[in-house]
Amino acid sequence: MIFIDACFRKKTPYTPVWMMRQAGRYLPEYMEVRNRAGDFLTLCKNPKMACEVTLQPVDILNVDAAILFSDILVVPLEMGMDLRFEKGEGPIFDHPLKNREDLKALKVEEAALRLDYVYEAIKLIREKLDRDKALIGFCGAPWTLATYMVEGRGTKTYSLVKKLLYTDPDFMHTLLRKVTEVLKLYLQKQIASGVNAVMIFDSWASALEESAYFEFSWKYMKEISSFLKKRNPEIPIILFPKGISGYLDKIDGDFDVFGVDWSTPIKLAKDKLFDKYVLQGNMEPMRLYNKDAIKEGVERIVEVMGKKEGHIFNLGHGILPDVPVENAKYFIDLVHEMTKR
Ligand code: CP3
Repeated sequence: MIFIDACFRKKTPYTPVWMMRQAGRYLPEYMEVRNRAGDFLTLCKNPKMACEVTLQPVDILNVDAAILFSDILVVPLEMGMDLRFEKGEGPIFDHPLKNREDLKALKVEEAALRLDYVYEAIKLIREKLDRDKALIGFCGAPWTLATYMVEGRGTKTYSLVKKLLYTDPDFMHTLLRKVTEVLKLYLQKQIASGVNAVMIFDSWASALEESAYFEFSWKYMKEISSFLKKRNPEIPIILFPKGISGYLDKIDGDFDVFGVDWSTPIKLAKDKLFDKYVLQGNMEPMRLYNKDAIKEGVERIVEVMGKKEGHIFNLGHGILPDVPVENAKYFIDLVHEMTKR
């Protein structure tokens, strides 16, 4: 698989490319299945439909990897929290974590078992996906999940979770440890079910100052990563901490690919990390609205990364729901064409 070879810096005929959130609302084919499912969580819990939408971007856009269709928040859901997705508002937990009793009630082993619909979807997808295409499994970082579990919803200020972090660090660490334990079991089961690579999304990384970031987030990402590496050295691990370009000097750990977000100059990431890690990224997703902007964006990244090993093309965050499919296709084709060896 070209994508897996690229994760290990092996020679490939071109730079592989996929897009974060590639299975989603910009595809009319996705909307058709989602409407059939009724709502988003039902779609996540239905292995057949999850399989169908996972394969759509591979068939329609010819990306080099499929990413499992699910959501990072099914983990807190199966730990026992009530999750709903509200139109226009995104995810909501009606009973966010408030005290130690709430913490105690969170399930660990049981949560990993209750996520069986994810493992079923993976088995189906791996059966149907072209042998040359990789299937990427994923989870949210403990810090990002904990943020949702404490705040109850997306936040701009992170005030509840950060107040907790500075007033009761022990509470935060207990929560993060519990989530970390579930994620180790969860990703190990995803691997056993057939995923070829795993990615950990730390979408709220930039909420933390440097010392807090390494104490409350990166440490746990690394712990999951070395747990998996010991057991499955052949499965590449991608870590994506969003918005921490100021902290790159301190990045370390046993993983393979560093996901570069759009706000980090790729040249900076290359200077700081390329010796140790393959880089993935990082075209600004908004460029997808305009073909000239796409061309310029791809050219600038190729200029820095070259047509050679050590790079996987991607966006620097997820594709947005109103991007024309034609432009997404243009992006993928252009990367394949421009990076041909
Ligand atoms: O194609 C893929 O990338 C695979 C599937 C995937 C989804 N969510 C599907 C989804 C993945 C990898 C995620 C990860 C995810 N979910 C993250 C981390 C990545 C990032 O974007 O930073 C986060 C923070 C979430 C939490 C989440 N899920 C939010 C904030 C929302 C609402 C977003 C919005 O714009 O409404 C979701 C819902 C969601 N997850 C959708 C999809 C396709 C849209 C749901 C719908 O169909 O209405």
